[in-house]
Amino acid sequence: MTEVELTSGDFTEENEPFSLFGAWLKDATAAEINDPNAVAVATVDEKGLPNVRMVLLKDYDERGFVFYTNFESQKGRELLACQKAAMVFHWKSLRRQVRLRGEVEIVTDQEADEYYATRPRGSRIGAWASKQSRPLEGRFALEKAVAEYTARYAVGNIPRPPHWSGFRIKPVSIEFWHDRPFRLHDRVEFRRETPEGDWAKVRMYP
Ligand SMILES: Cc1cc2nc3c(=O)[nH]c(=O)nc-3n(C[C@H](O)[C@H](O)[C@H](O)COP(=O)(O)O)c2cc1C
Repeated sequence: MTEVELTSGDFTEENEPFSLFGAWLKDATAAEINDPNAVAVATVDEKGLPNVRMVLLKDYDERGFVFYTNFESQKGRELLACQKAAMVFHWKSLRRQVRLRGEVEIVTDQEADEYYATRPRGSRIGAWASKQSRPLEGRFALEKAVAEYTARYAVGNIPRPPHWSGFRIKPVSIEFWHDRPFRLHDRVEFRRETPEGDWAKVRMYP
């Protein structure tokens, strides 16, 4: 079990999900061995078949939860076609889960540019070199692409690729789950009809 001192108080008494999420992410940042912001993102393909993979949460506020990716990847194409997604965080060391769902929007170019500029140079080159989710004939082809873009952007600014940006999930549901003995866990869901609406809180059987 973790040695970290957790956010005090009974989370089921909280009435606002974003500050509660912030407190839990802070706890996870102190407790997890790596990537406390790792989160599974679920999408659906054109046949309605679900798809899920991990990404890193890069921003969140009242507007929603942001991650960055290649818009020509599987997830990118799925989200551009069907602007709905779900996320689930699981912090093993804390025995906590947060899940959320909602419609998706693309972050502004300014937001994407600002985040892209904070990435290490190698990651910015990688965003150009990786044709994410498309077949790769061998590792050499990727290394060759990295070498080509490294040469192309040897000096000066590396622009953000036009196909690389962020998605923001605007939640209409956020559920908090915390392990309790004998599987009698605490569960609280915050729901609203639209991303602009007021939250209603619902406690649920585990
Ligand atoms: C911990 C972790 C974090 C990841 N973060 C990202 C990310 O922020 N963005 C991204 O595009 N892929 C990320 N990936 C890779 C994705 O899981 C996935 O392999 C890739 O994006 C291709 O997914 P797709 O084919 O469904 O588009 C991450 C993988 C792991 C394990």
